Amino acid sequence: MPNKTLIAPSILSADFTRLGQQVQVLQDGGADWIHIDVMDGHFVPNLTMGPFIVKAVREVTDLPLDVHLMVEEPEKMLAVFAQAGATNLTVHIETCPNIHRTLQTIRELGCKPGITLNPGTPASHLDEVLHLVDLVLVMSVNPGYSGQSFLPEVLPKVSYLRQRLAEINPGAWLEIDGGMNTSTLPLALQAGVQVFVAANAIFNHPQGIAAAIKELRLLIAASGGAD
Ligand code: DX5
Ligand code: ZN
Repeated sequence: MPNKTLIAPSILSADFTRLGQQVQVLQDGGADWIHIDVMDGHFVPNLTMGPFIVKAVREVTDLPLDVHLMVEEPEKMLAVFAQAGATNLTVHIETCPNIHRTLQTIRELGCKPGITLNPGTPASHLDEVLHLVDLVLVMSVNPGYSGQSFLPEVLPKVSYLRQRLAEINPGAWLEIDGGMNTSTLPLALQAGVQVFVAANAIFNHPQGIAAAIKELRLLIAASGGAD
């Protein structure tokens, strides 16, 4: 497994009146990836960012852009997100009846394919494609909004996927998204997560964005995570 632990702030909770500045603060504060939540108002009950935002973020940072597609029929939008500058393109298994083709298209577009699943979807639904992805994202809230509470029921799913990836695709990242904070992060780390997405815990930290990232980084180190 990759011997590193990453922090991927989600700009869903950013101040969009000064997005460029906020991304700069994330980068200066030590963010590893920038997580961008794309929601279509159908697969999830919220409407958020499209390729214009990915392109705007790409113009202000060289960090990997971790694009999380919470949309129906994501295959229709892969090319525009790739052209906008996405690094990782992660699709939901619930939205992809032709998942092998979708993952192959992402790779052909020059992006890293990721697969994700909602809290109510069994981890075994990913078995057929774990060998084809560069990252597996476990949703630990029902997607749609930042600031929701972590669902501890997903921890066995994390452990299962950690084990399966160790067997068949040890180079893939295992990522978690939803309700991460100083109380929940150690639980996910223990279960085998290496990439932590966080919106609320970073953007609404009383001491600010940089202090929030530092706090999570120290917690990861203290809990035995790899640098
Ligand atoms: C959930 C999104 C998440 C969300 C996380 O619908 O996919 O990336 O922004 O927000 P927090 O960290 O506040 O739970
Ligand atoms: Zn997300």
